[in-house]
Amino acid sequence: MLKVDKLNQFYGESHTLWDLELDVPKGQCTCVMGRNGVGKTTLMKCIMGEESVKDGSLNYNGGVELTQQKVEDRSRLGIGYVPQGRQIFPLLTVEENLRTGLAARKDGSKQIPERIYELFPVLKEMKNRRGGDLSGGQQQQLAIGRALVIEPQLLILDEPGEGIQPNIVAQIGEVIRKLIAEDGLTVLLVEQKLPFARKYADRFAILDRGRRVAQGDIGELSDELIKQHLTV
Ligand SMILES: Nc1ncnc2c1ncn2[C@@H]1O[C@H](COP(=O)(O)OP(=O)(O)O)[C@@H](O)[C@H]1O
Ligand SMILES: [Mg+2]
Repeated sequence: MLKVDKLNQFYGESHTLWDLELDVPKGQCTCVMGRNGVGKTTLMKCIMGEESVKDGSLNYNGGVELTQQKVEDRSRLGIGYVPQGRQIFPLLTVEENLRTGLAARKDGSKQIPERIYELFPVLKEMKNRRGGDLSGGQQQQLAIGRALVIEPQLLILDEPGEGIQPNIVAQIGEVIRKLIAEDGLTVLLVEQKLPFARKYADRFAILDRGRRVAQGDIGELSDELIKQHLTV
């Protein structure tokens, strides 16, 4: 679904991503792991076009070169993005927050897909509440709902479990599996928590200081790799 090849990114003089390679197979959940500051979010921003890359390739859906696409075309190409820290609009209602996602739909539909309320019933119950009045977990569900408004083929989630109560983290994990099994989505997840990755991901990739140092099936994520690249 997405193949990252020899990607290099700089913040000014600072070389942040080094010849990065990553495979995100269709119909699976690939989990990008690594300690704080290794470049996970930067990679997601490069995929979304929010940071520019120096060189390398982002091959999407068997042929589209994302590095050649405009930022706003990422969502039209079917990529949904839930940024780290959620970034919902606190003063807009839940429904208005969801509506902001509609602008990026390529068919111009003005309807919020019912599927979103089916996956997150709490968003229906709280439709008229302000985003800022929701709990952290509910805000994360709203951010995911907003990314799903375009009915994406690829969903990118950057640390969706960060600072959220465990029962909602588990619900988000279940939604990820449903989206894959029932809606045919591909998921690219950034997550540092091992139990979550082991339970909900099919594949893993580990970044360390801007380089991909390991990847494989989630069952191959060994204690040795964890000790070397994930524990602090
Ligand atoms: N906008 C920015 N300008 C300069 N440096 C940045 C910026 N964003 C992140 N960095 C730096 O790039 C590195 C990777 O950051 P990030 O991608 O956020 O890591 P992660 O998501 O793995 O915690 C860090 O050293 C961070 O300080
Ligand atoms: Mg990050």
